[in-house]
Amino acid sequence: MNSPVIQGIHLNAPSYVKNARLIAWVADMVALTKPDAIYWCDGSDEEYQRLCQQLVDAGTFTKLNPAKRPNSFLACSDPSDVARVEDRTYICSENRDNAGPTNNWMAPADMRALLQTGKAGEKALFDGCMKGRTMYVVPFSMGPLGSHIAHIGIELSDSPYVAVNQRIMTRMGKAVYDVLGVNGAFVPCVHTVGAPLEAGQADVKWPCNKTKYIVHYPETREIWSYGSGYGGNALLGKKCFALRIASNMGRDQGWLAEHMLILGVTNPAGKKYHVAAAFPSACGKTNFSMLVPPEAGFAGWTVTTIGDDIAWVKPHADGKMYAINPEAGYFGVAPGTNMHTNPNCMRSLDKNVIFTNVALTDDGDVWWEGMEKDGGGLPDHLIDWQGKDWTPAIAKETGAKAAHPNSRFTVAATNNPALDPEWDNPNGVAIDAFIFGGRRSTTVPLVTEARSWMEGVYMAATMGSETTAAAVGQMGVVRRDPFAMLPFCGYNMSDYFQHWLDMEHKLEESGHTLPKIYCVNWFRKGDDGKFVWPGYGDNMRVLKWMIDRIEGTAKGTATGFGVAPQYGEINWTGLDFSQAQFDSVTSLDKDAWKQEFTLHAELFTQLAHHLPKELVATKAQLEQNLAV
Ligand code: GTP
Ligand code: SPV
Ligand code: MN
Repeated sequence: MNSPVIQGIHLNAPSYVKNARLIAWVADMVALTKPDAIYWCDGSDEEYQRLCQQLVDAGTFTKLNPAKRPNSFLACSDPSDVARVEDRTYICSENRDNAGPTNNWMAPADMRALLQTGKAGEKALFDGCMKGRTMYVVPFSMGPLGSHIAHIGIELSDSPYVAVNQRIMTRMGKAVYDVLGVNGAFVPCVHTVGAPLEAGQADVKWPCNKTKYIVHYPETREIWSYGSGYGGNALLGKKCFALRIASNMGRDQGWLAEHMLILGVTNPAGKKYHVAAAFPSACGKTNFSMLVPPEAGFAGWTVTTIGDDIAWVKPHADGKMYAINPEAGYFGVAPGTNMHTNPNCMRSLDKNVIFTNVALTDDGDVWWEGMEKDGGGLPDHLIDWQGKDWTPAIAKETGAKAAHPNSRFTVAATNNPALDPEWDNPNGVAIDAFIFGGRRSTTVPLVTEARSWMEGVYMAATMGSETTAAAVGQMGVVRRDPFAMLPFCGYNMSDYFQHWLDMEHKLEESGHTLPKIYCVNWFRKGDDGKFVWPGYGDNMRVLKWMIDRIEGTAKGTATGFGVAPQYGEINWTGLDFSQAQFDSVTSLDKDAWKQEFTLHAELFTQLAHHLPKELVATKAQLEQNLAV
């Protein structure tokens, strides 16, 4: 293979890279971003170890004590770069209507001028943005390599942190080029931390830029990310590709890209069901996907993980909906994770983990809020995520958190002891139920079942949730988060609702029963401000009721907002949860619902253009049911 030289840099594409479009694009991006060097990732273990060592040498990574946490590292970010930046995230469709009122929009030509081509007198942000750095070429597959559901992306990034995280989060490496071949299609993803280095200038341990742009061009299926090195802003296979771009692919091709976990649940008779659940960021997907059923009363029940964050769901000719997890790893929330809440997760984190923004213990291990419940109590001393001393006394005095509330672990799915044997099946698993749930301290009941596909879509579309640390901005504010997709739907939200409604007719034609739709809320609080529902493993009690409904053995009780369980239909073995407590997490308060419906109305006003009429009719029906 010839090696073009661009501005003094040999492209040096390995001989196994045979896709001419890819090579030409990389050459163009080198010319634009002007890195000092280019490195083609092959995805090997040797390469992973070498890049991790390089990150240690650069001060970005701290190697953890191998006796405590083998082959694991801690990265602490710049304090300004700790979460997704929704107000800096853009859907640049040709037509503004296609982005819709819930997305930031800029005309593609204007955005390209800003990022790529420059305007009169102004340099483009990507022009020379990789100076002094190496451009990593990261080939990855979202979904099992070669699966008919999978798609390929190539991320060009000047962050070695991104390269090593992508190796865990995706199927990354050489084999991707075999699937891509000479003419295959890929989603081009360009990422820069936006911190070029002048000759001789020393680097910082977490380079980033105050200016940030997370940009998607849905028509040309491109992603451009500037200024952040963190999570969903930088690991472009995740939210940018697998949700924002993939939702556009799904819309065009008749499938769904969803912010959903996928789990398998097997009953004592060996019958297995599959459930996909959408909860907003930091609202319980990873935990639910790894659930360990209560010891008492659930002998023989097992839950296995297919995915913890994203599902691609396709209607199949047999009339069922099949889901795959396009990812290969988990980028999960650390705080709150311990042996009581999520033992499968804790065991997944024994080795080969990258931690970001958790605290460092004096013996070279990691710590985060919630770990004190694992028997050890609070540690006497830590280095917090910002590199400062932390002691229980300091925490008490200043309220300082040892770990950032959005601190995360990056770990391969194969580390999970509860990994489902079908997790890598290129055809996916057939879904029996969809669950939608927000974080609501009031109003929304523990669980209800939609009486129809239509009602389920209504519940999902109008879902509200209190904001969390997963995105920059105020925390704990209730906002509408339709389908847990508010920050991730890559096109007009009203059209997305219609796409979901259309699924019903698509599947009904084949005569198969549609998946049931449930609405849940684990987060109702009592007058003392504490969660009433124990959550975590006890969520199995709710999951079991759903399966009883699917099986037709639980009658339920009709409420104004779907079918709810009767107290006696929940398996309470091993849990002391009174009828009064049950009532306090299931009751429908009329005044609260009156207020809730005004929020639904506000959403519908915002989304009025293209809003499916059936949703408005369903609202009127529900208001009548609830007599509010
Ligand atoms: P993203 O990765 O941001 O998409 O988050 P997620 O939806 O996977 O949320 P995750 O499971 O990581 O949980 C987020 C936080 O909620 C953690 O601090 C958990 O401990 C807490 N949490 C999860 N499930 C429950 C539950 O059933 N009850 C309560 N009270 N808290 C929960
Ligand atoms: C989320 O915010 O929903 C996440 C973390 O799963 S991130 O990868 O940053 O999107
Ligand atoms: Mn998520």
